[in-house]
Amino acid sequence: MNQLLPVFGPRVPFSKPIQGGLKDGMTITVCGRVLPNADRFHVNLQRNSDVVLHINPRYTWFWISYGYVVHNSCQNGTWDWEENKSETPFPRGQTFTLQIVVTQDSYKISANGKPFSEYKHRMPFQNVDSIFIGGMVELSLVAFQHLAPHHAAPLGSFVSYFKHLHNPTTHNSHK
Ligand code: GAL
Repeated sequence: MNQLLPVFGPRVPFSKPIQGGLKDGMTITVCGRVLPNADRFHVNLQRNSDVVLHINPRYTWFWISYGYVVHNSCQNGTWDWEENKSETPFPRGQTFTLQIVVTQDSYKISANGKPFSEYKHRMPFQNVDSIFIGGMVELSLVAFQHLAPHHAAPLGSFVSYFKHLHNPTTHNSHK
């Protein structure tokens, strides 16, 4: 169950294996802050070097300062077609909570507690073996949760998770 333990204050770029792959009902939570001068950052769910889900907030469109969010997948080095949202719940310089819920048909993505987007599966979610986060962002927490009782994380990890939420300046890393 080690792979389900939350990671506090990880350095960016961040990567972590997801042993056993994703499961229906699993939630990935990423808390962080967009750097004030960010051009972009990304959260990738990957299968080896293929990107099964790429969530990519960007802050410029050509020469215009403009926040939007790109969603895409990449197979064998080739990017697929983008699904974009022409708004951003991740403004530069601000803290955010991004949650990705795995469902049978899609990833349901929420930001700061509100539904934001949905990305229908193009590649099997069961094959995802790692998470990568890179770009101009700092992270306070990356956590994994599975709602099925037999997959629940040990109580201790939730206690430290909630303690951390109340004291986000603590930068312990539990790997
Ligand atoms: C490309 C960019 C990649 C990725 C992709 C998404 O232009 O180089 O990093 O964001 O778009 O479609």
